[in-house]
Amino acid sequence: MSAPVVTIDGPGGAGKGTIARAIAESLGWHLLDSGAIYRLLALASLQRGVEPTQTATLETLARGLDIDFPTRGPHAGEVLLDGEVVSGAIRSEACGVRASELAADPAVRTALLDRQRGFQKPPGLVADGRDMGTVVFPDAAVKIYLTATAEERARRRHKQLMEQGVSANLADLLQDMQARDERDMNRAVAPLKPAEDAMVIDSTTMAIEAVIARVLAQVGNRA
Ligand code: C5P
Repeated sequence: MSAPVVTIDGPGGAGKGTIARAIAESLGWHLLDSGAIYRLLALASLQRGVEPTQTATLETLARGLDIDFPTRGPHAGEVLLDGEVVSGAIRSEACGVRASELAADPAVRTALLDRQRGFQKPPGLVADGRDMGTVVFPDAAVKIYLTATAEERARRRHKQLMEQGVSANLADLLQDMQARDERDMNRAVAPLKPAEDAMVIDSTTMAIEAVIARVLAQVGNRA
Protein backbone atom coordinates (compact mmCIF):
# COMPACT_ATOMS: atom_id res chain seq x y z
CA MET A 1 0.00 0.00 0.00
CA SER A 2 1.33 3.46 -0.83
CA ALA A 3 2.09 5.92 1.96
CA PRO A 4 -0.90 7.98 3.20
CA VAL A 5 -1.20 11.62 2.14
CA VAL A 6 -2.82 14.65 3.79
CA THR A 7 -3.39 17.53 1.35
CA ILE A 8 -3.83 21.14 2.41
CA ASP A 9 -4.91 23.47 -0.41
CA GLY A 10 -6.11 27.04 -0.42
CA PRO A 11 -5.28 30.63 -1.42
CA GLY A 12 -2.04 32.40 -0.47
CA GLY A 13 -1.76 33.67 3.09
CA ALA A 14 -4.39 31.30 4.53
CA GLY A 15 -1.77 29.68 6.78
CA LYS A 16 -1.30 26.46 4.76
CA GLY A 17 2.49 26.40 5.20
CA THR A 18 2.39 26.83 8.98
CA ILE A 19 -0.39 24.28 9.39
CA ALA A 20 1.22 21.74 7.02
CA ARG A 21 4.55 21.96 8.85
CA ALA A 22 2.88 21.53 12.26
CA ILE A 23 0.87 18.51 11.05
CA ALA A 24 3.95 16.90 9.43
CA GLU A 25 5.99 17.40 12.62
CA SER A 26 3.21 16.06 14.81
CA LEU A 27 2.80 12.91 12.66
CA GLY A 28 6.52 12.50 11.85
CA TRP A 29 5.66 12.57 8.11
CA HIS A 30 7.38 14.14 5.09
CA LEU A 31 6.41 17.63 3.93
CA LEU A 32 5.87 18.97 0.40
CA ASP A 33 5.62 22.75 -0.05
CA SER A 34 4.54 22.62 -3.71
CA GLY A 35 4.42 26.43 -3.96
CA ALA A 36 8.19 26.42 -3.32
CA ILE A 37 8.65 24.28 -6.46
CA TYR A 38 6.72 26.81 -8.57
CA ARG A 39 8.70 29.61 -6.92
CA LEU A 40 12.01 27.81 -7.68
CA LEU A 41 11.03 27.55 -11.33
CA ALA A 42 10.07 31.24 -11.23
CA LEU A 43 13.48 32.18 -9.79
CA ALA A 44 15.30 30.02 -12.36
CA SER A 45 13.33 31.68 -15.18
CA LEU A 46 14.06 35.16 -13.84
CA GLN A 47 17.78 34.34 -13.47
CA ARG A 48 17.98 32.93 -17.01
CA GLY A 49 15.80 35.61 -18.62
CA VAL A 50 13.14 33.12 -19.77
CA GLU A 51 9.78 34.83 -20.33
CA PRO A 52 6.41 33.28 -19.27
CA THR A 53 5.46 33.05 -22.97
CA GLN A 54 8.42 30.74 -23.82
CA THR A 55 6.50 27.56 -23.07
CA ALA A 56 8.89 25.01 -24.60
CA THR A 57 11.93 26.50 -22.85
CA LEU A 58 10.02 26.65 -19.56
CA GLU A 59 8.99 23.02 -19.85
CA THR A 60 12.60 21.95 -20.41
CA LEU A 61 13.67 24.15 -17.50
CA ALA A 62 10.97 22.61 -15.27
CA ARG A 63 12.00 19.03 -16.11
CA GLY A 64 15.71 19.67 -15.55
CA LEU A 65 15.40 21.90 -12.48
CA ASP A 66 18.19 21.11 -9.98
CA ILE A 67 16.42 21.64 -6.65
CA ASP A 68 16.78 20.20 -3.17
CA PHE A 69 15.01 20.44 0.20
CA PRO A 70 17.65 18.89 2.51
CA THR A 71 16.35 17.60 5.86
CA ARG A 72 19.82 17.08 7.34
CA GLY A 73 23.35 18.38 6.92
CA PRO A 74 24.54 22.00 6.88
CA HIS A 75 21.60 23.20 4.75
CA ALA A 76 18.83 21.36 6.63
CA GLY A 77 15.51 23.20 6.28
CA GLU A 78 16.79 25.38 3.42
CA VAL A 79 15.71 25.39 -0.22
CA LEU A 80 18.46 24.94 -2.84
CA LEU A 81 18.55 25.82 -6.55
CA ASP A 82 21.62 24.62 -8.48
CA GLY A 83 23.26 23.91 -5.10
CA GLU A 84 22.77 27.51 -3.85
CA VAL A 85 20.60 28.45 -0.85
CA VAL A 86 17.64 30.47 -2.18
CA SER A 87 15.18 30.13 0.75
CA GLY A 88 14.85 33.94 1.09
CA ALA A 89 15.03 34.76 -2.62
CA ILE A 90 12.05 32.58 -3.59
CA ARG A 91 9.81 34.37 -1.05
CA SER A 92 10.07 37.74 -2.84
CA GLU A 93 6.88 39.24 -4.27
CA ALA A 94 8.49 39.13 -7.75
CA CYS A 95 8.95 35.34 -7.47
CA GLY A 96 5.38 34.91 -6.19
CA VAL A 97 3.92 36.84 -9.10
CA ARG A 98 6.12 35.03 -11.68
CA ALA A 99 5.27 31.65 -10.08
CA SER A 100 1.56 32.35 -10.43
CA GLU A 101 2.06 33.32 -14.12
CA LEU A 102 4.06 30.16 -14.92
CA ALA A 103 1.60 28.00 -12.96
CA ALA A 104 -1.12 28.85 -15.49
CA ASP A 105 0.85 27.00 -18.22
CA PRO A 106 -0.42 23.38 -18.59
CA ALA A 107 2.95 22.15 -19.95
CA VAL A 108 4.71 23.52 -16.87
CA ARG A 109 2.19 21.88 -14.51
CA THR A 110 2.58 18.49 -16.25
CA ALA A 111 6.37 18.78 -16.16
CA LEU A 112 6.25 19.24 -12.38
CA LEU A 113 3.77 16.42 -11.60
CA ASP A 114 6.18 13.48 -11.14
CA ARG A 115 8.56 15.59 -9.12
CA GLN A 116 5.76 16.40 -6.65
CA ARG A 117 4.48 12.80 -6.52
CA GLY A 118 8.02 11.66 -5.71
CA PHE A 119 7.55 13.12 -2.21
CA GLN A 120 4.99 10.42 -1.33
CA LYS A 121 7.07 8.08 0.85
CA PRO A 122 6.49 6.11 4.06
CA PRO A 123 5.46 6.81 6.72
CA GLY A 124 3.34 9.50 5.02
CA LEU A 125 3.22 12.93 3.39
CA VAL A 126 1.63 16.28 4.18
CA ALA A 127 1.41 18.29 0.92
CA ASP A 128 0.34 21.92 0.67
CA GLY A 129 -0.51 23.94 -2.42
CA ARG A 130 -3.39 24.74 -4.76
CA ASP A 131 -4.13 21.40 -6.48
CA MET A 132 -2.75 18.78 -4.10
CA GLY A 133 -6.16 17.20 -3.41
CA THR A 134 -7.69 17.81 -6.86
CA VAL A 135 -4.85 16.82 -9.23
CA VAL A 136 -1.55 15.71 -7.70
CA PHE A 137 -2.85 13.35 -4.96
CA PRO A 138 -6.51 12.66 -5.83
CA ASP A 139 -6.49 9.53 -3.59
CA ALA A 140 -5.27 11.37 -0.48
CA ALA A 141 -6.68 9.99 2.79
CA VAL A 142 -7.48 13.49 4.12
CA LYS A 143 -8.08 16.64 2.07
CA ILE A 144 -8.28 20.06 3.68
CA TYR A 145 -9.18 23.34 1.94
CA LEU A 146 -7.94 26.15 4.16
CA THR A 147 -9.19 29.63 3.46
CA ALA A 148 -9.70 33.09 5.05
CA THR A 149 -10.96 36.43 3.73
CA ALA A 150 -8.54 38.29 1.44
CA GLU A 151 -8.45 41.18 3.96
CA GLU A 152 -7.39 38.85 6.79
CA ARG A 153 -4.79 37.11 4.61
CA ALA A 154 -3.31 40.46 3.55
CA ARG A 155 -3.23 41.58 7.21
CA ARG A 156 -1.35 38.40 8.20
CA ARG A 157 1.17 38.78 5.35
CA HIS A 158 1.68 42.44 6.33
CA LYS A 159 2.33 41.50 9.97
CA GLN A 160 4.78 38.78 8.91
CA LEU A 161 6.71 41.20 6.66
CA MET A 162 6.82 43.87 9.39
CA GLU A 163 8.21 41.28 11.82
CA GLN A 164 10.92 40.50 9.26
CA GLY A 165 11.73 44.22 9.05
CA VAL A 166 10.38 44.46 5.48
CA SER A 167 8.22 47.51 4.84
CA ALA A 168 5.04 46.85 2.89
CA ASN A 169 1.80 48.62 2.11
CA LEU A 170 -1.35 46.83 3.27
CA ALA A 171 -3.48 48.10 0.39
CA ASP A 172 -0.86 46.97 -2.17
CA LEU A 173 -0.63 43.54 -0.52
CA LEU A 174 -4.40 43.16 -0.64
CA GLN A 175 -4.46 44.13 -4.31
CA ASP A 176 -1.64 41.65 -5.17
CA MET A 177 -3.39 38.92 -3.20
CA GLN A 178 -6.69 39.49 -4.99
CA ALA A 179 -4.93 39.49 -8.39
CA ARG A 180 -3.15 36.21 -7.55
CA ASP A 181 -6.41 34.62 -6.28
CA GLU A 182 -8.14 35.67 -9.46
CA ARG A 183 -5.40 34.11 -11.64
CA ASP A 184 -5.15 30.89 -9.54
CA MET A 185 -8.94 30.38 -9.40
CA ASN A 186 -9.71 31.12 -13.03
CA ARG A 187 -6.92 29.35 -14.92
CA ALA A 188 -8.00 26.58 -17.29
CA VAL A 189 -5.78 23.88 -15.80
CA ALA A 190 -5.88 22.82 -12.12
CA PRO A 191 -7.69 25.94 -10.90
CA LEU A 192 -7.71 26.62 -7.18
CA LYS A 193 -10.90 25.11 -5.74
CA PRO A 194 -11.78 22.67 -2.96
CA ALA A 195 -11.73 18.98 -3.92
CA GLU A 196 -15.25 17.51 -3.76
CA ASP A 197 -14.24 15.41 -0.76
CA ALA A 198 -12.29 18.17 1.02
CA MET A 199 -13.04 19.50 4.49
CA VAL A 200 -13.26 23.30 4.17
CA ILE A 201 -11.83 25.28 7.10
CA ASP A 202 -12.26 29.07 7.21
CA SER A 203 -9.46 30.30 9.46
CA THR A 204 -10.46 34.00 9.38
CA THR A 205 -11.30 34.10 13.09
CA MET A 206 -9.53 30.92 14.23
CA ALA A 207 -6.27 30.60 16.19
CA ILE A 208 -3.58 28.46 14.52
CA GLU A 209 -3.79 25.90 17.35
CA ALA A 210 -7.51 25.41 16.71
CA VAL A 211 -6.91 24.80 12.99
CA ILE A 212 -4.13 22.28 13.76
CA ALA A 213 -6.39 20.45 16.25
CA ARG A 214 -9.20 20.23 13.69
CA VAL A 215 -6.90 18.84 10.97
CA LEU A 216 -5.30 16.31 13.35
CA ALA A 217 -8.76 15.14 14.44
CA GLN A 218 -9.66 14.56 10.78
CA VAL A 219 -6.39 12.62 10.22
CA GLY A 220 -7.17 10.51 13.29
CA ASN A 221 -10.58 9.64 11.82
CA ARG A 222 -9.42 8.86 8.27
CA ALA A 223 -5.68 8.12 7.80
O1 C5P B 1 1.90 28.97 -2.16
P1 C5P B 1 2.80 29.96 -2.84
O2 C5P B 1 2.37 31.39 -2.69
O3 C5P B 1 4.23 29.77 -2.46
O4 C5P B 1 2.69 29.59 -4.40
C1 C5P B 1 3.15 30.47 -5.39
C2 C5P B 1 2.29 30.31 -6.64
O5 C5P B 1 2.52 29.02 -7.21
C3 C5P B 1 0.78 30.38 -6.40
O6 C5P B 1 0.26 31.69 -6.51
C4 C5P B 1 0.20 29.49 -7.49
O7 C5P B 1 -0.04 30.22 -8.66
C5 C5P B 1 1.32 28.51 -7.77
N1 C5P B 1 1.02 27.18 -7.23
C6 C5P B 1 0.22 26.35 -7.98
N2 C5P B 1 -0.02 25.08 -7.55
C7 C5P B 1 0.48 24.63 -6.40
C8 C5P B 1 1.28 25.49 -5.59
C9 C5P B 1 1.52 26.77 -6.04
O8 C5P B 1 -0.29 26.73 -9.02
N3 C5P B 1 0.24 23.38 -6.02
